[in-house]
Parts: sequence; structure tokens; C-alpha cells
Amino acid sequence: MNQLTIALAKGRLQDVALEYLSRVGIVVSDAALASRKLLVEDDGGRYSFLFVKPADVPVYVEYGVADAGICGRDVLMESQADVHEPLDLGFGACRLVVAGKVETAERGYNLLTTARVATKYPRIAADYFQQRGVPVELIALSGSIELAPVLGLSDHIVDLVETGRTLKDNGLVVIDTIAESTARLIVNRASYHLKRATVAALVALLRHALHL
Ligand code: PRP
Repeated sequence: MNQLTIALAKGRLQDVALEYLSRVGIVVSDAALASRKLLVEDDGGRYSFLFVKPADVPVYVEYGVADAGICGRDVLMESQADVHEPLDLGFGACRLVVAGKVETAERGYNLLTTARVATKYPRIAADYFQQRGVPVELIALSGSIELAPVLGLSDHIVDLVETGRTLKDNGLVVIDTIAESTARLIVNRASYHLKRATVAALVALLRHALHL
């Protein structure tokens, strides 16, 4: 069997992805996780895992540095990476939303005509507002999006909501949901053919672990 390199999104999806993989015997040792190396092997040596920022997962997979990856649908939509997507893993459910301060949100959508919108999803946000004919100024940030309205950098944000805690803690409310997201398994197009049996085995294991 070929070894597969799998890119895993650091952060919210990392622990749950490793938990499901461990249920089917794909275990990354604590020592490997603690090593702070970007690339580590599972205990069986069948897979190597690349731990990268969520937005980088589709890029590594598209370019074949990783054969497969696990990342959110939101990240995949934003990247528009040309990858094969064999499985909706179902976990890591969250929503990509437009949010704003309570007082602005109460006044409704029309306010968006003058909005500055902070986001790490500039492509999705641009499409969303363009479809509604709303000219907005997009402010591209890579993190701490929720601080932008608090600090006066933007009027609204386009960001992920999982529990809602981050919005609540920053006095923000959801104005509209753009898309629902869950974790996806993605596969490099060449690997999907060249390592077909190994990829199929991984898909089967994940289906089993997730009762899909
Ligand atoms: C997202 C988002 C919020 C938080 C929302 O960040 O940017 O900060 O999660 O989650 P909550 O509704 O449960 O509070 P993410 O976990 O994707 O981290 P990142 O900004 O480092 O990519």
C-alpha cells in the first residue's frame, strides 16, 4: 500500500479529526503531536500528517504536497481549489454568517450599502454582496475578525459561527447565514487515481468511523 500524506486543519477540527481517525486505528502518538513538527507519521506508518492552517489545506492538496486533507467546507468554498471531494464527514458543523453590532443589525440590511466588512473569506463575501447589488468595502484579515467592529475597523464581519460564543462576547449578532459548513475529506486529483486503493481504504475507514 502507498503511504498517504494527509493535511489536517489545525484548530477547531484537529482534535475531532484525530479522534475519529483513532477510532479506526489511525493513531498519531502524543509524542508526535507534542513534537511541534509539521509532518508526523501515524503509529502504523501508513499515513503522514501535515498540520497546517485551515486555509492552507486545500492548497497543499491541490498542489499534491498532500494526497488528502480534512478541512471545513467554508475554507474549501473560499479557496476554490481544484480537488476531489469524496466525503462530507459531518463533524465540525458551523455556519458562515454576516454579523454586526446589535444596534446596527436591528436597523436591517439597507445599512450594508455603506458597510465596511472585515473577513478572512473575501471571495465568498464579495460574491455574497455582489449578488445583492450591495457595494461594500472588504477588509481582509487573517484572524480576530470579531474585534473589527468593536475597534471601529469595520461595520460588519463575515465569519464562522460554531457555538455563537465569540459573537456574543463581542456584542455581535447574526444578520444572515451565507452557508452551512461541515468538515470535508478532500483528495488530490492525481492521487485519487494513482493511489486509488489506498484512498478508497481511507474513505471506507472514515465512513465506518462516522457511521456514514
Ligand atoms: C472561528 C471564528 C470565530 C470562532 C467562532 O475561528 O473566526 O473566531 O471560530 O466560534 P464560536 O461561535 O464557537 O465562538 P476558527 O476556529 O476558525 O479559528 P481561526 O480564526 O484561527 O481560523
